[in-house]
Amino acid sequence: MTPTKKVLVRTYGCQMNVYDSERMTDVLEPQGFEPTERVEEADLVILNTCHIREKASEKVYSELGRLRALREERAAEGRGLMIGVAGCVAQAEGREIMRRAPAVDLVVGPQSYHRLPEMVAAAAEGRRSVETDFAIEEKFAALSEPAGRQARARAPSAFLTVQEGCDKFCSFCVVPYTRGAEVSRPVAQVVTEARRLVVEGVREVTLIGQNVNAYHGEAPDGGAAWSLGRLIRRLAEIEGLARIRYTTSHPADMDEELIAAHRDLPILMPYLHLPVQSGSDRVLAAMNRRHTADDYRRLIDRIREARPDIALSGDFIVGFPGETDADFAATLGLVDAVGYAAAYTFKYSPRPGTPAAGREGQVPEPVKTERLHALQALIDRQTHAFNASRVGMVMDILVEKPGRRPGQMVGRSPWLQPVHVDAPASLAGAIAHVHVHGIAAYSLFATLADRSGGRDAVSIEAAEVTG
Ligand code: 5AD
Ligand code: SF4
Repeated sequence: MTPTKKVLVRTYGCQMNVYDSERMTDVLEPQGFEPTERVEEADLVILNTCHIREKASEKVYSELGRLRALREERAAEGRGLMIGVAGCVAQAEGREIMRRAPAVDLVVGPQSYHRLPEMVAAAAEGRRSVETDFAIEEKFAALSEPAGRQARARAPSAFLTVQEGCDKFCSFCVVPYTRGAEVSRPVAQVVTEARRLVVEGVREVTLIGQNVNAYHGEAPDGGAAWSLGRLIRRLAEIEGLARIRYTTSHPADMDEELIAAHRDLPILMPYLHLPVQSGSDRVLAAMNRRHTADDYRRLIDRIREARPDIALSGDFIVGFPGETDADFAATLGLVDAVGYAAAYTFKYSPRPGTPAAGREGQVPEPVKTERLHALQALIDRQTHAFNASRVGMVMDILVEKPGRRPGQMVGRSPWLQPVHVDAPASLAGAIAHVHVHGIAAYSLFATLADRSGGRDAVSIEAAEVTG
């Protein structure tokens, strides 16, 4: 028997990278690679990288420097270390990585992970390789069910990629270049994968895609492509699945079917990440976002009408080229008007090859910093108010894993807040009914609650899960 080798896949960036890292581990398993979290144990380290902002991108090279030193130490002991770079930096920089970091054995773009086994085999024979083709359908088909992969126990919540790539070409964004054009997975493939996840212990799936609500997957019966709303309706029928989420969406792709899914399906959680980036129409146009601030507000009204308890989150960029104080004030105004449960804020980072990078009116760093802090402070106040509004509520949480204290578990509220609750470890994977009594900066504290009729709902549900 070949001795087991170990692979460490280190993930940077978005949820899709988290998902892809697991798939990379899956395809390497039949090659005798077991996953590890510890670099000292690893025979192969793959950095699954992010190119979205400069800071994320530069991290890769410092990490490669450390791995190179480790490889040299090991060489002295007669032991090897294989180094791979995957993800969006691999796609964007390709061979350039090999030049800048001679210790790298393989560079593989996000559409080529199914090629990893042969690339690793080549590296074992001393041949370095670069794969950055856009063969996305091939990737989906090959990674859906890698030959020889064993069923494995999974955490209660899992990501499931339903589409990749983006056709929107926002003028600041590298995604259309690194992940390519929008491609959706066929409905049947998604349903099969969701079913398998449920068999492996998953109770919540988050459907992911760079522009997930642009989904238009091949119909199971060969008819017209299905929208995301329709796909979610189909997934809602899977027995044993308790929750569905999706991310990340573009406002222009929020169609009637998806809004109706929020209205009709309790399994679809009342939380929506809907980035707007800016509240200024001038900036939105320069960003090529294809909608105005008012379009966005009206859209939010329609979504809230369909699902009144929905919580919103967003992404914002401050300091986009040409952004004035008045433009920034419009962003604060929009945030004020919408009211977010959470939001991510970024300083504009010029990315090579994107239209906005070379534009006039680049905003000085100190101005960006000041705006970032002002926006973050406003959003923090909103997050705090939203969390505080949950105190006293009785709600269902999906219990996920042990908390920091013994006897404590952590779960998620319907609104994605972490919830700490005193509960036995056997409740992992159960939907528990809890009473919220307090908050911390970004989480809730709760106690297990009885359901009406005095029966202990939690233990009943846990029995259903294990039974
Ligand atoms: N600079 C700053 N933030 C960016 N984002 C994407 N590209 C850039 C960039 N060049 C942000 C957007 C997007 C999120 C994933 O990252 O807000 O929604
Ligand atoms: Fe990038 Fe999102 Fe715009 Fe697509 S929609 S270009 S992924 S910011």
